[in-house]
Amino acid sequence: GAAELGPYRHYMQKEIFEQPRALADTLQGVEGFDADLFGSGAAAVLRRIDAVLILACGTSYYAGCTAKYWLEAIAGIPTQVEVASEYRYRESVPNPNSLVVTITQSGETADTLAALRHARSLGMPHTLTVCNVATSAMVRECELAYITRAGVEIGVASTKAFTTQLAGLFLLTLTLAKLRGRLDAQAEADHLRALRHLPVALQSVLALEPQVIAWAQAFASKENALFLGRGLHYPVALEGALKLKEISYIHAEAYPAGELKHGPLALVTSAMPVVTVAPNDALLEKLKSNLQEVRARGGELFVFADADTSIEPGEGLHVIRMPEHYGELSPILHTLPLQLLAYHTAVARGTDVDKPRNLAKSVTVE
Ligand code: G6P
Repeated sequence: GAAELGPYRHYMQKEIFEQPRALADTLQGVEGFDADLFGSGAAAVLRRIDAVLILACGTSYYAGCTAKYWLEAIAGIPTQVEVASEYRYRESVPNPNSLVVTITQSGETADTLAALRHARSLGMPHTLTVCNVATSAMVRECELAYITRAGVEIGVASTKAFTTQLAGLFLLTLTLAKLRGRLDAQAEADHLRALRHLPVALQSVLALEPQVIAWAQAFASKENALFLGRGLHYPVALEGALKLKEISYIHAEAYPAGELKHGPLALVTSAMPVVTVAPNDALLEKLKSNLQEVRARGGELFVFADADTSIEPGEGLHVIRMPEHYGELSPILHTLPLQLLAYHTAVARGTDVDKPRNLAKSVTVE
């Protein structure tokens, strides 16, 4: 009811703004990267595995795609991410030493549960879930679990569940890195400090809302949008495009920016807004030349840039600056403005934001 919504217009908006609290709760009590975070006896299991297989659907799948970058780069562990509904029906080559990681807000998604059972039936006994509901079927069925503390999520389009999943997956990455001798005390302390700072950092990103609302006015009259990202931020672009299509019904696609020239550039005209996630990382110079390609075709660019990025606004090039540069945790921060963009675009179009047509919060049938 209205009382529960407080100053917010929809549950989705409320849930977007709950993220500093949700992340703080999820990380509460984390004093280091210890296997016990994932359940008793986790150390023995995590020490034994030599690969990770991630299974999930929807937004949770994009959390998995982000985790792959972390797991390979930080923990040095080969990682595969699969859409649950595909994995359960294809013939794959099982690795008995894989840790099967399911990611699910509800813990009741039929395809993800079936994919878990399929993996187990192929001889992969080690299972871990990152899940928001401690009493769910998924938590009961997995050997290990990390329970996110997003709280109840009502909006059909997932927001706070996604960013808390990312936090849980980052903890898993660092725990595996430590067990594998890839994390020294100094690095551990640095990562802990960065995690503790997250709620404050998220709060300052949320303060960008008025600027995002201005962009949403321009988006509301469009029928198509393209999202670009590179590296760790490619899954963020995918999630941004998914949010926009789910609630505003604008057709949106995401591409890794380097793939522009292999197809989507043909779609770029002044009628196609191009949203770009541009953190100040090693790929920034390459990303800038991708942006030139869009500008040269008359495409209008909407860039979320880090504070210390040398991308200046200009004709057809709009820039919102993120408050700070956030290293490996950057995907968590860059997700928020894309949630806000989808939300305010949908509000401007007058759609049923919390209950988009044809979609369900939790898909418990195939
Ligand atoms: C549905 C929801 C999505 C969610 C997906 C997976 O499609 O509308 O928001 O990402 O299910 O749900 P899960 O509970 O497994 O994360």
